[in-house]
Amino acid sequence: MRTKIYSRFLIVMLIALILVISVACKTFAQLTRNEALPMALDEPYRPQYHFTPAAQWMNDPNGLLYYDGEYHLFYQYNPDDTVWGPMHWGHAVSTNLVNWQHLPIALYPDENGAIFSGTAVIDWENTSGFGKEAMVAVFTHANGNRQSQSLAYSNDNGRSWTKYAGNPVIEPPNNIKNFRDPKVFWYEDEAGSGHWVMAVSAGNIILFFNSADLKNWETTGGFGLTHGATCGIWETPDLFELPVEDSQETRWVLAVAIGGCAPAGGSGLQYFIGDFNGQTFTNENDGDLVLWADFGADFYAPQSWNNTPDGRRIWAAWMNNWAYAQEIPTSTWRGALTLPRELSLVETAVGLRLQQKPIPELETLRDQSWSWAKQIVSTDNPLQLDEVNGEALEINAEFGATNLLEADRFGFKVRTGVDEETIIGYAAKSRSLFVDRGRSGEVDFSPNFTPIHTTAMSPVDDTIRLHIFVDRSSLELFGNDGLISFTERIFPREESLGVEFFVAGGQVQLNNLDIYNLDSIKITPAEVTGENEDG
Ligand code: FRU
Repeated sequence: MRTKIYSRFLIVMLIALILVISVACKTFAQLTRNEALPMALDEPYRPQYHFTPAAQWMNDPNGLLYYDGEYHLFYQYNPDDTVWGPMHWGHAVSTNLVNWQHLPIALYPDENGAIFSGTAVIDWENTSGFGKEAMVAVFTHANGNRQSQSLAYSNDNGRSWTKYAGNPVIEPPNNIKNFRDPKVFWYEDEAGSGHWVMAVSAGNIILFFNSADLKNWETTGGFGLTHGATCGIWETPDLFELPVEDSQETRWVLAVAIGGCAPAGGSGLQYFIGDFNGQTFTNENDGDLVLWADFGADFYAPQSWNNTPDGRRIWAAWMNNWAYAQEIPTSTWRGALTLPRELSLVETAVGLRLQQKPIPELETLRDQSWSWAKQIVSTDNPLQLDEVNGEALEINAEFGATNLLEADRFGFKVRTGVDEETIIGYAAKSRSLFVDRGRSGEVDFSPNFTPIHTTAMSPVDDTIRLHIFVDRSSLELFGNDGLISFTERIFPREESLGVEFFVAGGQVQLNNLDIYNLDSIKITPAEVTGENEDG
């Protein structure tokens, strides 16, 4: 009798084991394909409220565009590996820039080459003949060492795509090797006459082209060589007009990613401020002034959304650095998007500067919250944050400058645990803001993963403001309402969840502090449709 019960028990256990193994295999098989994939947001290091590809490799955001109630996000995508490879355009849409719906791959490599970075526009007046309100993608075809600009169009809100039969539409001038990443938009002068503009990078120059129909382009100017940082190849230009805060004025901003020598090491993002007359860009600052948009290591190739419904200029970047991007210790996928940030220009003591603020839509993610009122904090009077912990946090703090100048340094430690902490600090004596990720968790996967990043930041209106977003493997810090930003990848242990406030060498006046636990976003998997021509 006993043997019978025992053998029945064994059979039940065996069936259960087979079931568990088959479910695990299926999940793994799905994880290695983009389509029909349940998002496993609970994987180690998987960001909880930043966009990530369902599986495999992603780099630059591409074709950012709002149309018909949807924000489109295309992105450099290798569906076959977790490192860079033959580039496709992955695709996702969102109605609020917070939650995302994955869609099938939009553009596949073809006989003209792989699909590198580019933009998308709506051809409202059907200038191209691709159809009423066609969505047109303008991208780089990369064929070996030859890079040229090409088109594809969609007549169904980006769900299916046709490559233009006359590709490429621009061949590399003088056969230059680096000629890529077209940013295209519709430009209208004051008299209301308009044309298409393309800004495209070529070594250390941004070339400008004009077109009436997106198919025929003529060169109208170039900018670079003797301007800004030139110690790396220029890539992924963006060009847009921005209001100057508290004034009636506007300026044009030309953003240029650079492959090396950024402040935190490796690749980064510089920008120029000036004028654009429909043909070419002029810098209003000296050529030797270098303006960096971010002082952390992981803000690259940002692009702004074309056609936002309310005229806001919002951009997002690839949250990575080419110096180590292919080695970061994530498992089934690699690459993430930064938070979308709203841009404006602010007149500061040292001239006009770019301001980046996380979009207010993100406030919908706020969950549990904690608040602290005005108080003086010192080593004798510490600020205890013991009740706070989490891997997805927003910290919003303001400090009074008069008293804070007595302290050497103060700030927050996040993702703290045994032998782990990421420090966000203000060095009051030297008036600089810094992030120290030297003990943030896994740091030795690449010798290029630099630990300490710092930049000058003076109080504004006698206050220092720190707005911090911590996710499962990232940190975004906005200093003084986004006049300074740091974007950093960190790879702490799952159980390093602590938050601390520290002050050294004096006291600091805390004006107010709010901390929130943030919810995970909703990322819906793609359904297989098989509609795309090459898919
Ligand atoms: C920038 C970049 C672009 C290129 C793309 C290729 O990160 O190097 O210049 O189009 O990535 O994936």
